[in-house]
Amino acid sequence: MNWKGLLHQYKEYLPVNDQTPKLSLWEGNTPLIALDNLSEQLGVDLHVKYEGLNPTGSFKDRGMVMAVAKAKEEGSEAVMCASTGNTSAAAAAYAARANMRCIVVIPDGKIAMGKMAQAVMYGAEIYAIKGNFDNAMQMVRNLSEEAPITLVNSVNPYRIEGQKTAAFEVCEQLGTAPDVLAIPVGNAGNITAYWKGFQEYNERNHTGLPSMHGFEAEGSAAIVRNEVVENPETLATAIRIGNPASWDKAIAASNESNGKIDSVTDEEILEAYHMLAQSEGVFAEPASCASIAGIKKDIENGHIKKGSKVVAVLTGNGLKDPDCAIENSTMKPVVLPNEEEVVFDHILGRVKS
Ligand code: F0G
Repeated sequence: MNWKGLLHQYKEYLPVNDQTPKLSLWEGNTPLIALDNLSEQLGVDLHVKYEGLNPTGSFKDRGMVMAVAKAKEEGSEAVMCASTGNTSAAAAAYAARANMRCIVVIPDGKIAMGKMAQAVMYGAEIYAIKGNFDNAMQMVRNLSEEAPITLVNSVNPYRIEGQKTAAFEVCEQLGTAPDVLAIPVGNAGNITAYWKGFQEYNERNHTGLPSMHGFEAEGSAAIVRNEVVENPETLATAIRIGNPASWDKAIAASNESNGKIDSVTDEEILEAYHMLAQSEGVFAEPASCASIAGIKKDIENGHIKKGSKVVAVLTGNGLKDPDCAIENSTMKPVVLPNEEEVVFDHILGRVKS
């Protein structure tokens, strides 16, 4: 296939016209990987949509290519977002490509190292506040009302338009919609986008609809608790959000699809994070693994039937957050002298530990 990026591939489904810049970093077209080992272990037909293979390493590229292209088309010179890291990386990359100014507001000390490296490298103006994502979100919303700066958080409808294309790809790759789509929930834009995507694709192509299972981290589970979480906490910093902007839409997606919004603990997320890497060779960032943790929980409690066709969205690449991998791993390198015999003795088990 001659892939030219999302705005080209799905132009009939997107707000693309002759004036829309042909912006692309060749985003989309990510693999849907069958997980044979985990399928057997869990008793379902499990696939992952590996969004970590997008150009900046997360699903945000799908929405950002659309939002930045439209901002450019409309004559805007600057884009701005609040972020737990991935949105800012994507905004900064696409803004650089479109020759626009990019302003990002992040919670100081609470974004993963790889994401920070990206914002720095792509040349964003970075403001790290002594507050959380929700505080940053409020600030950028207010400022975008006063200043001629385009807000590119998922409250920007073009973000949802771009992100819905992932659902199209899942249907094309599987041949139909899955029975269950499991997805991590932070600000709730992505679950909104997938549900919109599945519905639109079904209208044109009769691929059916999945049941949408969204998972928040327990320490930031505003939707599950039905109240704003003032001080959200989780090691999955990408979804450390206590007042999701698309709260109502996430509930609608869950209700309309006969699905659910639930939460998983940090321990469950970490268990899924290691299980995915070690039994399938797929490295996804902690927040992404909320979907895998959620599936496991739902199979155990009967909310997902054995034999179901299940797709988990792996929203971001594991390399985004190397600190989390290293800090939570029991595997440490064995440091040895530069001596062949000593190294061989260790590898061949001649050294008693
Ligand atoms: N997974 C990852 C890796 C994310 O970065 C995010 C959100 C989500 C899941 C949740 O998606 O917000 O649409 O429900 N990250 C945002 C950011 C908040 O700033 O990068 P959501």
